[in-house]
Amino acid sequence: MSKKTVVFFCTECGNETPRWQGQCPACSAWNTLVEEPVAPKNRRASKTSRTNGRDGAAPVKLGEVTASEVTRWGTGLDELDYVLGGGIVPGSLVLLGGEPGIGKSTLLLQVAARLEADQRSTLYVSGEESGSQIRMRADRLNETATAVTYLGETDLTAILAHAEQLKPAVLIVDSIQTVFSPELESAPGNVTQVRECAARLQRFAKESGTAVFLVGHVTKDGVVAGPRTLEHIVDTVLYFEGATTLDYRMLRASKNRFGSVDEIGVFRMSGSGLTGVANPSELFLSERSDGASGAAVAAILEGTRPVLVEVQALCAKASYGSPQRVANGYDRQRLTLLLAILERRAGMPFGQLDVFLNVVGGVRISEPAADCAIAAALVSAVTDRAIASTDVFIGEVGLGGELRSVTQLERRLAEAERMGFRRAHIPRRGGAPRTGNGLASVQSATLSELIQQVG
Ligand code: TYD
Ligand code: MG
Repeated sequence: MSKKTVVFFCTECGNETPRWQGQCPACSAWNTLVEEPVAPKNRRASKTSRTNGRDGAAPVKLGEVTASEVTRWGTGLDELDYVLGGGIVPGSLVLLGGEPGIGKSTLLLQVAARLEADQRSTLYVSGEESGSQIRMRADRLNETATAVTYLGETDLTAILAHAEQLKPAVLIVDSIQTVFSPELESAPGNVTQVRECAARLQRFAKESGTAVFLVGHVTKDGVVAGPRTLEHIVDTVLYFEGATTLDYRMLRASKNRFGSVDEIGVFRMSGSGLTGVANPSELFLSERSDGASGAAVAAILEGTRPVLVEVQALCAKASYGSPQRVANGYDRQRLTLLLAILERRAGMPFGQLDVFLNVVGGVRISEPAADCAIAAALVSAVTDRAIASTDVFIGEVGLGGELRSVTQLERRLAEAERMGFRRAHIPRRGGAPRTGNGLASVQSATLSELIQQVG
């Protein structure tokens, strides 16, 4: 009867399988399956009866449901509001993922402080830090966080009891990996615990109208359940990223039931907390060195926002063996592809060279519209001829070496003009160029033509 059943969970995607396998059948990750006991039967039964009892919902026609206007609470941090889709939605469950030390606790403490200043009550639950540690962090901030209620607790039942009593507008749980439900046998941080706790917090959020923020550490070793196992339970998934050595951070939505995804918010970590960066291009271009070869500027779209970023390429003679292709912030396969196109369609030989590509500022480029800038940087690196610092590149490169049009050309051009660029290299396809006040457009049909134009 009480025989313990065991299942296997993927620590990457949370998929459940009855048998151990080397590769997860759902997300194809290797060596990510871990064994975990499933919840005892009687507990499952009690959960069902509870759903049928107190919370039992009756079917209704959608027409009879009153559609409440979605109200949103501004957090006072514009960049966060923007990524959330206009502010916090009451009753929503938001997961904030990121590597340890990136600034998740700082961000949420600032949010709590600003909400309190706005007469919205908050409860900050931490299983990671003591009250005095959080107080010390609070004292560094520009915001006054003294009104924020702190609770040092990891038992989910106790957390929910306090939350039900205090009825905060926003509940912050830092982190979901430290919280545990005593009814489950597995240790805190395991996939079953993390999922069960998140599911119960989701129910609490929906029933109470309290918005809940969960902090989730992204782990690389795969032992502790990562935030990805929670993606389907929560309403919104935000990732906080950036190099801890640099002082700016990027916030991305990878899932958002109440807004669009792929928007980014940019913050700078200062001595007194995080401040929003309203003009990311200015930040990413702030350290450009004039006259160096191998650098080109791309106008990419981050969500709906045009952002200018610098790409840098370096070519060096390969010492022995097959030449290296190293890409930072860019897909290595795409780099290999662009090198092959440059070689075959524009006669630029890279075969014997090690090629290194870096996107400045920890930005990740996934848009083909950056192809032209990357190709230009590579050509500049191999010819050792610098590109004018006022040139910007927009365009996708096809396998035949042809330049393809991109979406939202006008908005990219407008951003380039605003940032003081004088010349935009764009594909011939895709319509008439805009020749604005300060920005001239130069059209090319092929990669070879583009190389000539730049030269
Ligand atoms: P933290 O919010 O603790 O990160 P996480 O919760 O994601 O693990 O922030 C960690 C780093 O931020 C830490 O190295 C200290 C730094 N920091 C500042 O630079 N300025 C500040 O005002 C604060 C509060 C933290
Ligand atoms: Mg923290």
